[in-house]
Amino acid sequence: MKELTIRKADDMHVHLRQNEMLRNVLGYTALQCGRALIMPNTTPPILTVQDLVNYRETIVSELGDRTDFTPLMTFKVVPATSAAIVQDMKKAGATAGKLYPDGVTTNSEGGVTDFEALYPAYEAMEKEGIVLCLHGEMPGAFSLDRESAFLDTLRTIASDFPKLKIVLEHATTADAIACVLSLPHNVAATLTVHHLFITLDDVIGDKLNPHVFCKPIAKRPEDRDALVKAALSGNPKFFLGSDSAPHLISNKENACGAAGVYTAPVMLPALCELFAKHDKLNLLELFTSVYGAKFYGLPLNESSITLIEESWTVPEEFQSVKPFLAGSKLSWRVHPDAGKSKTKAAASAKVL
Ligand code: DOR
Ligand code: ZN
Repeated sequence: MKELTIRKADDMHVHLRQNEMLRNVLGYTALQCGRALIMPNTTPPILTVQDLVNYRETIVSELGDRTDFTPLMTFKVVPATSAAIVQDMKKAGATAGKLYPDGVTTNSEGGVTDFEALYPAYEAMEKEGIVLCLHGEMPGAFSLDRESAFLDTLRTIASDFPKLKIVLEHATTADAIACVLSLPHNVAATLTVHHLFITLDDVIGDKLNPHVFCKPIAKRPEDRDALVKAALSGNPKFFLGSDSAPHLISNKENACGAAGVYTAPVMLPALCELFAKHDKLNLLELFTSVYGAKFYGLPLNESSITLIEESWTVPEEFQSVKPFLAGSKLSWRVHPDAGKSKTKAAASAKVL
């Protein structure tokens, strides 16, 4: 049986939610990752220092005595975000600010429409070393063109703030990959697990599959190929941000189905599958556990995780949420001993 041991991952973009959902999903991320960047589009969102501190405390308390996972906290960058708020967030230990353009995704109402009006906030982020994470879609553009329509805004911010670290989150197009490649080292992109696997056809090509409906929507085969090429390229500008975004099945199989794909339980097994298929398993750790840390200026995780080559079928459901690749056979899984720790978060995650 083949085994692969890598440094624990850094998932540089994950939605952990709150309350029962948080309790149900946290263990999968904590099992596979040493750190994760926690998105602030909760209800209510993370806007103030108190929100951020409370949310971190809630997550840490859910982790119980598990000390090998660190949540990296973010705040939402909204039209009211001032330089003073950024400075206070830095003091409170924020890692990044997440900018959602108005109305482009789950809980992005009241988001940004005037990107230039936030220049004082970007300037403070640049000074304080807070990363600017962009949901790169232009409100009002046609849905398939929203990401491409945002790229000029990315170029402008990147050129006006050459020392600001900017991450174009969940890139989905060949255009976006080319744009990030053309910009200097302060600009990187996260790639999700699901966008490396699916195209728009998986969402609407046959019967509608609401469980792979997400924002930005998956695009054309040539876009997916560009993302795969970037992930496998060994270029430090591209690293893992799963964008695992759980929604109850009842909110997905719904006339107003929510956007988001729940990838956390299959994150590393699915990536192993992909990298192995392209004979690039040797580059997996760089993508999952090195380049994100380097971009964020963090030391590499010291603990490791082992995956084994053994066939299993992804369950149809975890606590009323359907995971990505539900019902499919995967040939890699997390080593059963990885979850043996008696800690609360690990105990809540069945090893897959
Ligand atoms: O599909 C998405 N779901 N995209 C996002 O940007 C947000 C996420 C969510 O929070 O559900
Ligand atoms: Zn997200």
